Amino acid sequence: IREVQNREAMREKFWELTDKTRLGSLLKINKNIDKLENSNAPGRKILEQSSKRQEEEVDYKTDSQYGAAMRAKNEAVSDFAKSKTIKEQREYLPVYSVRDELLTVIRDNKIVIIVGETGSGKTTQLTQYLHEDGYSKEGLIGCTQPRRVAAVSVAKRVAEEMGVELSSKVGYSIRFEDCTSKETIIKYMTDGVLLRESLIDSELNQYSAIVMDEAHERSLNTDVLFGILKKVAQKRRDIKLIITSATMNAERFADFFGNVPIFTIPGRTFPVQQYFSKTIQEDYVDAAVKQALTIHLQNGPGDILIFMTGQEDIEATCYLIAERLQKLEGVTPMLVLPIYSQLPSDVQAKIFEASEFRKCVVATNIAETSLTLDGVKFVIDTGLCKLKVYNPKIGMDALQITPISQANANQRSGRAGRTGPGICYRLYTDTCYRTELLENNIPEIQRTNLSNVVLLLKSLNVDNLLEFDFMDPPPQETILNSMYQLWILGALDNTGNLTELGRKMVEFPLDPPLSKMLIMSDQFGCSQEILTIVSMLSVPSIFFRPKGREQESDAAREKFFVVESDHLTLLHVYDQWKMHNYDQEWATKHFVHGKALKKVREVRSQLLDIMKQLKMEMNSVGTDWDQVRKAICSGYFHNAAKIKGIGEYVNLRTGIPCVLHPSSAIYGLGFTPDYVVYHELVMTTKEYMQCVTAVDPHWLAEMGPMFFSVKEAYGQNSNVLKRDIEKKGLREMEKEMEAEIRRKTEDVR
Ligand code: CDP
Ligand code: MG
Repeated sequence: IREVQNREAMREKFWELTDKTRLGSLLKINKNIDKLENSNAPGRKILEQSSKRQEEEVDYKTDSQYGAAMRAKNEAVSDFAKSKTIKEQREYLPVYSVRDELLTVIRDNKIVIIVGETGSGKTTQLTQYLHEDGYSKEGLIGCTQPRRVAAVSVAKRVAEEMGVELSSKVGYSIRFEDCTSKETIIKYMTDGVLLRESLIDSELNQYSAIVMDEAHERSLNTDVLFGILKKVAQKRRDIKLIITSATMNAERFADFFGNVPIFTIPGRTFPVQQYFSKTIQEDYVDAAVKQALTIHLQNGPGDILIFMTGQEDIEATCYLIAERLQKLEGVTPMLVLPIYSQLPSDVQAKIFEASEFRKCVVATNIAETSLTLDGVKFVIDTGLCKLKVYNPKIGMDALQITPISQANANQRSGRAGRTGPGICYRLYTDTCYRTELLENNIPEIQRTNLSNVVLLLKSLNVDNLLEFDFMDPPPQETILNSMYQLWILGALDNTGNLTELGRKMVEFPLDPPLSKMLIMSDQFGCSQEILTIVSMLSVPSIFFRPKGREQESDAAREKFFVVESDHLTLLHVYDQWKMHNYDQEWATKHFVHGKALKKVREVRSQLLDIMKQLKMEMNSVGTDWDQVRKAICSGYFHNAAKIKGIGEYVNLRTGIPCVLHPSSAIYGLGFTPDYVVYHELVMTTKEYMQCVTAVDPHWLAEMGPMFFSVKEAYGQNSNVLKRDIEKKGLREMEKEMEAEIRRKTEDVR
């Protein structure tokens, strides 16, 4: 697997060297890859940019690029769906056979752990059973999902099963998208949404029952919810808490919640034959493509499910399969379908649609347990997934391609045995499985940045984070790091308590630096402008660059450039779109995703509501964009960098070298500015600064890290502040804070 990682690193490098249209160059890469020298030390991890912006929306690609395979429209309805009514389908599920026992256990116990194979009906049926058993009379029935896609698709399915409109009796709520109403009795939501709700109502009184689904995934928010809901259950007599897991190691959950019963849904699975690769695969994309084609040409009916790492690999795989299929004459078409979290939902829905042709679904680990695809007979497992991992070197999370665990591998192969015997092709060796894969995956809470969690818990009055009831506590170092970051932003004071600013920051469903920038903006007289910029940063990339039209689209993008700032460029795009009456056609014409802009508009209006609640002043500086840059500076001074060479910078605090991204508007300045701030680092072969704004060094000095915390400590007297900084020096002050936090946390231990 390390080999494969190195390959991936080389491919990244090649892309950087040649061009950015990755799909097109992939074929060339396979031929040229051997010529590249391997500069990666063994085990060096491949870092990708952080989660949100990394997976870009690609609806423009889907139609043209999957070629013939995509054109094979799916008109036929699958045999199963055609021959069985919804009622029959529901009654066919394994969970139905134990419905009554299950409801009895729930009636008798406040907390129950439910274990069952993927596809047994946990996610779609439990909420309905609870409703049928009368719990909806007492309050909402909530069901949390670690993934947005799952929350939406499952809500749709359940609405259909109950024969109601989505958002009426059945609805969903994900960040920036609330599709529920007063009528709603069954609500699917991301775990993050429920976590935020617990801020407003710490006892979650509107719920009569909460299903925490996919607990085995151990997502960050679910782990935090465990601690919070355990407390809620202690306080409230009238709540039911159900924790579901697809894997069998449920004892830990049962122990954590106080020796609660475990209910196992009897499985109905078919044997799956395993094939391991004999040698280490050099290129997992290529290996998967070949395997899929071999299956298609040599095997009888049955859909194929390929587990890939992330969006880019998925697209490359889909493209290659479609392309090679097209070249083969007289072969029956195959429907090649991608699925990953950022895929537009109408394209996602296609994987559930019935088809007269074989389907080949290329998925992230989303298809491991959160989505059930009937009819899969062949699974191809690359043995890799993308995980968010905290990188202490850069002080932020990065998506990283990592080997999966044995538990994941078994889940993956299980997908082939849902409706009949199946086959799983593992693109890694037997030895690799036994010696290199961990038995279980590491919970997210132990490997990612916790700033948001710290902020949330602090505002829930959890003063001492090390005392919080975590099932698996995060490393103390990570907590300290996150506290330190929050302190730099001014969200925590020198004693580690939430400041006024920190309290406000919690109100926004944004990462701390963005919420801070937004809160500070009215003081700079530009809250309207910053609101737009923050909203633009909260959706996946808005520019598109179709294959074959790169120059044209680049030229269109350049017309929007505000040369001092990529942030202002984003503002400019939005303002122009607004001037053109939010017209979708205008957007397309200018190579901007209309759908993304529409989303920005929705996000903007939701953030605006919060700003109004906080009684923030809504003001605008018109065209005095220097003020806007100052406000941007206030949120990003931790991401400030000083010039080192042409296009090369070093981070002022950490000394990490970073470079301007080739797509930056800053190049339009004609010279590279001495000081910049950036939104985030994108790590490929170099550390690229993504979304950059040129700043005046005086602003940085003015708004430097100590500004807010010292202001808190010394009142509003900025002279005292300045004197103190001069006397002690910034670094000294930072050390003091560190010592303070350390002392506090050590006291507890
Ligand atoms: O949660 P669990 O894995 O136990 O099963 P589920 O997600 O409730 O799936 C039960 C059944 O509902 C499966 O047979 C799925 O095919 C079907 N389903 C669907 O048709 N559409 C969805 N969006 C979700 C599930
Ligand atoms: Mg499920």
